[in-house]
Amino acid sequence: MMSAMRSRPLGAGLGMAMLVAATTASLAGTTAPPRAGAAAQQAGVTGQAAGPAYKPVSDSRPHHTVDCRKVKCVALTFDDGPGPYTRTLLRHLAAYDAHATFFVVGQNVVARPKVVRDAVAAGHEIGNHTWSHPDLTRLSPKAIRSQLARTDHAVEAATGVVPDLVRPPYGAWDKAVRRQAHRPLVLWSVDTLDWRYRNSARVARVSLKQVRPGSVILFHDIHPTTVKALPRVLKGLTERGYRFVTVGELFGGKPPKLVYDARRLSGGPR
Ligand code: NI
Repeated sequence: MMSAMRSRPLGAGLGMAMLVAATTASLAGTTAPPRAGAAAQQAGVTGQAAGPAYKPVSDSRPHHTVDCRKVKCVALTFDDGPGPYTRTLLRHLAAYDAHATFFVVGQNVVARPKVVRDAVAAGHEIGNHTWSHPDLTRLSPKAIRSQLARTDHAVEAATGVVPDLVRPPYGAWDKAVRRQAHRPLVLWSVDTLDWRYRNSARVARVSLKQVRPGSVILFHDIHPTTVKALPRVLKGLTERGYRFVTVGELFGGKPPKLVYDARRLSGGPR
């Protein structure tokens, strides 16, 4: 089932996306949060998202107040779960005091609500990755809304919080998707291609080689090879001075209203 979901290639070879400072009028027109510095430098700012103001999930744990202007931050993001290996991943993250962002599929949340609840309790962020992982650009506005709303409800039922961020499956988005999401669309700047290679050593190597301050790294926690790679990723990035933050934290708790899509700046396919 998952392999079918992955039949459309992601931006292969775009892992080293050219990173360009965001200088569009839409960013200049917003009050860019100071901590968004590193992230904004990578962000492909392509327009305002409609909808209510961004409201971050609060994380009151004081030891996690990380100033990404002063320290090297990286946002590890995990798509398509939760799955059978997600709990193991939570243990790996906890060992490094790392926060991450999980872009969950609604039907998987219903199957495994407790691990999602535990992720939130541990300080991780939950994003919406649709109900059944379709290419949203092929759906009607109504169907897009349904895909997102069903997942919102599943996450809220499991955790008490509603996702603040959306990551469209396959990184496929357009104006209609942006409009229906009513929230920032968050893509990534480093693609480990872990779903294709299923090789722990490679996942770790790509992560460590391509990371930059402010990177948003894409993983899939439904693959055991990815979860197995994480101790190496966490150790290597820690040795390089990185702190592990959620996407919300990376953007200073006040992001987007924008689309974060570093791939688009490379001029490649999406
Ligand atoms: Ni996905």
